[in-house]
Amino acid sequence: MKLFDVYPLNDITIVKAKGSYVWDDKGVKYLDMYGGHAVISIGHTNPHWVQSIEDQLHKIAFYSNSIKIPIQQQLADKLGRISGKETYQLFLCNSGAEANENALKLASFHNGSKKIIAFNKGFHGRTSLAVAVTDNKDIVAPVNETGNVIFLPFNNSVALKDCFSKYGNEISSVIIEGIQGVGGINVADENFLKLIRNLCDEYNAVYIADSVQCGYGRSGKFFSHDFAGIDADIYSIAKGMGNGFPVGGILIAPHIKPKYFMLGTTFGGNHLACAAALAVLEVIEKEDLIKQAEENGLYLMNKLKETDGIKNVRGKGLMVGFDVPDHLKDLKKNLLNKHYIFTGEAKPNVIRLLPALNITRNEIDEFLKALQQEITQLKERSIFRPEPLQLND
Ligand SMILES: Cc1ncc(COP(=O)(O)O)c(C=O)c1O
Repeated sequence: MKLFDVYPLNDITIVKAKGSYVWDDKGVKYLDMYGGHAVISIGHTNPHWVQSIEDQLHKIAFYSNSIKIPIQQQLADKLGRISGKETYQLFLCNSGAEANENALKLASFHNGSKKIIAFNKGFHGRTSLAVAVTDNKDIVAPVNETGNVIFLPFNNSVALKDCFSKYGNEISSVIIEGIQGVGGINVADENFLKLIRNLCDEYNAVYIADSVQCGYGRSGKFFSHDFAGIDADIYSIAKGMGNGFPVGGILIAPHIKPKYFMLGTTFGGNHLACAAALAVLEVIEKEDLIKQAEENGLYLMNKLKETDGIKNVRGKGLMVGFDVPDHLKDLKKNLLNKHYIFTGEAKPNVIRLLPALNITRNEIDEFLKALQQEITQLKERSIFRPEPLQLND
């Protein structure tokens, strides 16, 4: 059987990983500034995480959600305390798309309304409703199309107010990333998030903070929405939550009440996933990783701002992006193939950095040095081979 060919692949086979490094099958060592797709929060193969999963595996990996699973409550308690959302309720699932799917569905159960406000360049996953609220026509199949989703410009207060005054209580929820990831590291204005909070209160709509990529401490706060000093009604989480073990969830505000069978899952909240997620939180707490993300993120961002050639450095904590001008368009490719550094991207010309929260200053410096070297070389090449003149008539 062939694999379904949906990813253009780099010709690299990673066989080993530790901290912020991974190794290929030929022994080449790579620096991972991409966090394996914003997933690695506490470092690859973190010893405490490995041990916790291994210990749990020897006890029990899985039993259905029809019995008591105390490790779910342990996880909920720790997550509530570290995130500052102690009064919230936790529903566990397996991925970011599934978390958003449940969030949007729960919102509609809660207020009985149907319309959803989503934003240009937003990404929320590839399943039914999650993809319908994602601003990328190429990944929305005809069956996913629904008249219930309204896309608005990001950070545009006037458009948001107009939409609420037009549709009023028909609006079930607003879904927004505190920092757009796939869309190119676009930070939501704090005043815009406050406005969403106020309008949701006024119209009984549910504020869904998609924190799949910008959550779990990456921004320098547990949720990037925390910068606005507001509480969302639902937070969706995944990626960094399991450090590579598939686990996701939603944090649900206390005024949203559960009913039997309104949500459910076979695998969500299984013993093994909870052990992995609990270990992640233990390491985040013990090593003060949210503070580290804030401080090292600031260091990285300031150094990038001083770097000649790249443009529009932005982000928060260790979720950082910058624009790559056309004459440096080979930058990402060369960082990987010549300097052995993985970075992320956002089309058409953004490099996204999403390293593990415990990346060290030395590792950041290693990246910055390679970046500077590569920019200099690419610049020299473009001076010797200037791009053809564009003649405007
Ligand atoms: C903001 C955001 N939401 C949701 C998702 C979907 O998560 P998953 O791929 O785990 O379904 C992603 C994935 O990149 C994401 O960045």
